[in-house]
Amino acid sequence: MTLVDVDPDALRACCGRFATGVTVVTTRTAQGDHGMTISAFMSVSLDPALVCISVGCGARMLPRLRASGRYAVNILSEDMRAHALHFAGRPDAGLRDLFEDRHGLPVLRGAAAVLVTDVVQTIEAGDHVLLIGKVRHIEHEPIARPLLHHAGQFGVVSAVAA
Ligand SMILES: Cc1cc2nc3c(=O)[nH]c(=O)nc-3n(C[C@H](O)[C@H](O)[C@H](O)COP(=O)(O)O)c2cc1C
Repeated sequence: MTLVDVDPDALRACCGRFATGVTVVTTRTAQGDHGMTISAFMSVSLDPALVCISVGCGARMLPRLRASGRYAVNILSEDMRAHALHFAGRPDAGLRDLFEDRHGLPVLRGAAAVLVTDVVQTIEAGDHVLLIGKVRHIEHEPIARPLLHHAGQFGVVSAVAA
């Protein structure tokens, strides 16, 4: 079998079959507070406590992250679909007073979980940059249910395995 270059749209469709949660990553610079919807989030290490996000090189968020050196990961709960769209370039004027402060960073009210991090490593990776964050603060809502994303659609957990 001959291996050929993979078409970007086909790759996006293929990787989109991997169901994920949805986060909004937030940071603060002299320009103000900024949030961006990100599904490319993963935990990396427990000791030391490290997580990773993948940010497109064209995102306005990227220079802000490089400037601040800090980000918060806000894991969205199932009723936060509007937030996911709002921070993905489709502003919703109905969403107001979204942020509260946590250790000098903006975090989203109503998030299922929040991790506040300092960037300790950046890895240039094609048209994205991986930013590894050292976790400084965590909190989560024990009964919150997550917003999901799969094949370009939002979803919710319909059943929890016993
Ligand atoms: C469900 C969902 C997940 C996304 N995940 C990512 C991601 O992991 N990395 C990324 O660079 N963009 C991702 N995006 C696209 C960005 O949210 C979008 O380009 C955003 O407008 C960039 O914001 P900014 O340019 O204002 O910083 C995602 C969008 C959606 C709707």
